Amino acid sequence: MSPSIKYDLEIKFGSEYGPEEAEAMLRVLANNAPTSGDECIAFEREFAEYCGTKHARCCSNGTAALFLSLVALDIKPGDRVITTPLTWIATAAAAATLGADVDFVDIDPVTYNLDPNRLAEAITPNTKAVLPVHLYGQCADMDAILALANEHGFAVVEDACHALGATYKGRVSGSMGATGCFSFHEQKNISTLGEGGIVVTNDPALFERMALYRSHCARVYGKSTKYCSIDETKFPMGKRFWWQDFDDCGYNFRMTDIQAAVGRVQLKKLDMLNARRIANAAYLTEQLSDVQGLTLPAVKPECKHVFHLYPVQIDAGKFGMDKDDFILAMLNEYGIKIGTHYNPLNWTQAFQKRGFKRGQFPVAEAAAGRLITLPLHPRQTPEALEYLVHSIKALKK
Ligand SMILES: Cc1ncc(COP(=O)(O)O)c(C=O)c1O
Repeated sequence: MSPSIKYDLEIKFGSEYGPEEAEAMLRVLANNAPTSGDECIAFEREFAEYCGTKHARCCSNGTAALFLSLVALDIKPGDRVITTPLTWIATAAAAATLGADVDFVDIDPVTYNLDPNRLAEAITPNTKAVLPVHLYGQCADMDAILALANEHGFAVVEDACHALGATYKGRVSGSMGATGCFSFHEQKNISTLGEGGIVVTNDPALFERMALYRSHCARVYGKSTKYCSIDETKFPMGKRFWWQDFDDCGYNFRMTDIQAAVGRVQLKKLDMLNARRIANAAYLTEQLSDVQGLTLPAVKPECKHVFHLYPVQIDAGKFGMDKDDFILAMLNEYGIKIGTHYNPLNWTQAFQKRGFKRGQFPVAEAAAGRLITLPLHPRQTPEALEYLVHSIKALKK
């Protein structure tokens, strides 16, 4: 195998940068590379426009976007927050670390997303928020989830970290709930230099709270300040020109301008990069559809699936080896790194400490026992994709 094919099969390097990003970085460097400045504000405006939301606030990562959403919704001890067990721990950890009671509901076995029928059974009067995760790049069944939210009065926080640019019935992921949270981690569909996040909303009150908590809830009262409110009634200025106060204890979840400048360039490329992911996924589906024992991803007609990941279930009886043997053989025999996204959260120590046990979410757990993710990203060459398909077919017994 040539080194270039090997590089193209690494799942880790999903991001792709070019001279446009380098130019944007140099522009910000020449301006002394500030934090939360004009580039961040422009990125927020452009990202909100892309999603069709009124507001966006960039932050340090997707985890911070989830935190800011839940803090803005005033999630606190005693509140119940529901999500799927088949997700990255950040989705549930934000609520757990705020002291909320986290609960999970099982998944739809076809899309791997939170199952709205099971959600309906799990809602209690103190359910304050539900976090659907648009897993692997395909939106959850948002109409059903939003109908339950309307009926029961809980907030929907979309974890759209996998689903930058995905759509559901023509609506852009992240724009349908009270807030939508995105990650720009290096593996995501676009990146802001390895880390980054953004949260979108149409609700001005939530936006104000998220904006405040992102930066220590600091308010600056002044006669001429660019970024902060002037509120002389709340804090009489007297002869003072400038005064700082803090509404509450918050966080430093800010993004830097150099990241935002790269994010602005990446955002312009998002649809093109997603188109390449979709084409690569279509090739894999076409080539692997006749391999016995593999369940390939199903794309719902109402969704634009942006294939952050390409999930496959391996039926050991029909394929001739189980998930673990497949992962080892692909690495040892072909040098291909296979992913596993995810172990259900009720299997983790973090949630077993909180009372969860194995066996509580049988659909997610059965799927997780067979699920692997194939390398898929926009830079994959036809040669690398062919090698991937050839290696899988060669392993089939
Ligand atoms: C589903 C999901 N939610 C949240 C996050 C958290 O994003 P970040 O790593 O940017 O904090 C991730 C990151 O991988 C994720 O996959």
